[in-house]
Amino acid sequence: MVWESVLEKFKELFGSEGEIGVYFAPGRVNMIGEHTDYNGGHVFPCALTIGTYGVARKRDDKKLRFYSMNFEQLGVLESSVENLKPEKEADWTNYPKGVMWAFGEKGMKVEQGMDLVLFGNIPNGSGLSSSASVEVLTGFILRDMFGFDVTNQDLALIGQYSENKFNGVNCGIMDQFAIAMGKAGHAIFLDTATLQYEYAPIKLENAKIVISCSNKKRGLGDSKYNERRSECESALAQMKEVIDIASLGDLTEEQFEQHKDAIKDELCRKRAKHAVYENQRTVKAVEALKNNDVALFGKLMNESHVSLRDDYEVTGIELDTLVEEAWKVDGVIGSRMTGAGFGGCTVSIVKDASVDTFIREVGAAYEKKIGYAADFYVVEIGDGPVKLA
Ligand code: GLA
Repeated sequence: MVWESVLEKFKELFGSEGEIGVYFAPGRVNMIGEHTDYNGGHVFPCALTIGTYGVARKRDDKKLRFYSMNFEQLGVLESSVENLKPEKEADWTNYPKGVMWAFGEKGMKVEQGMDLVLFGNIPNGSGLSSSASVEVLTGFILRDMFGFDVTNQDLALIGQYSENKFNGVNCGIMDQFAIAMGKAGHAIFLDTATLQYEYAPIKLENAKIVISCSNKKRGLGDSKYNERRSECESALAQMKEVIDIASLGDLTEEQFEQHKDAIKDELCRKRAKHAVYENQRTVKAVEALKNNDVALFGKLMNESHVSLRDDYEVTGIELDTLVEEAWKVDGVIGSRMTGAGFGGCTVSIVKDASVDTFIREVGAAYEKKIGYAADFYVVEIGDGPVKLA
């Protein structure tokens, strides 16, 4: 068991006395509905069985001691629950600290410190939400330790609040929601305008979900992400002058086509087009899945990638190569980038019999073109956060 080695590390570093809890929160993959969650649109993510393990113990003083088995070179990082501030040189402790700070902002001040050891088996910076996983995990641990009266949905909102206000990334609600509300075997069809959601079973007869990791780190991704957000906000403001809407997610394709000239700037018009069409595509994709039409679901995934490549411009050569090579393989039902883009991962639905060929052929073509290897993960859809021991 992975968690046993994390518990062992905890005891080695911080001793074995007192009440020690062992926890897990998943990572997530988004099947379709990309860059729609800050545009009042729909998303369709699911939690994974890979994620972040955490072992924690409450302290009697205000001290925080953090250790990550993914960043062992950093050693034990210490701080305090008083004056929680983001570190200038961003390190991973900004995520748990941000969540503690966010609880305080919401009237649930964390008065005591804790010792915490983490280990994540999600590749870092890969677009599978390792950071949201740490945020939801921290919130889950705080609730368990201090008895805060919050639901899993609140944990998602607190995680997003901390990422926006403490870490300065203007993300939407998708990642934290998918992680906090995950359900094995199901994706979550979430309307980000209202937070109404529905679980949809993912029944892929004779097929698997394969994640291809480009191993290109996001790098400038966060600033580009915020840039896309403001382009959409500018498009929305111009649209509002001609039609009464609250968000781009309110528009049908027809309404967009009818009024798009209100958006004067061509770039913003393209961004808005993606937001509107991708939202409608997500609704259609979920409908297709309900009708057991996995082929149509796959086709809509492919169209999503094209729109993210050409109109939203968040893919790049690495993700395009992974997807375009995937499309060439027999037995691939659909393939697209997933997450914020600018590096990270793609998600593909691949027939069982083709998975080995897929990994071999896409892997070889990627390495030849990009100069370094991609990694492949055949994943399962898992539950939300749990206390393991
Ligand atoms: C990142 C953000 C999400 C969402 C996706 C793009 O993962 O954290 O809120 O906007 O990008 O769909």
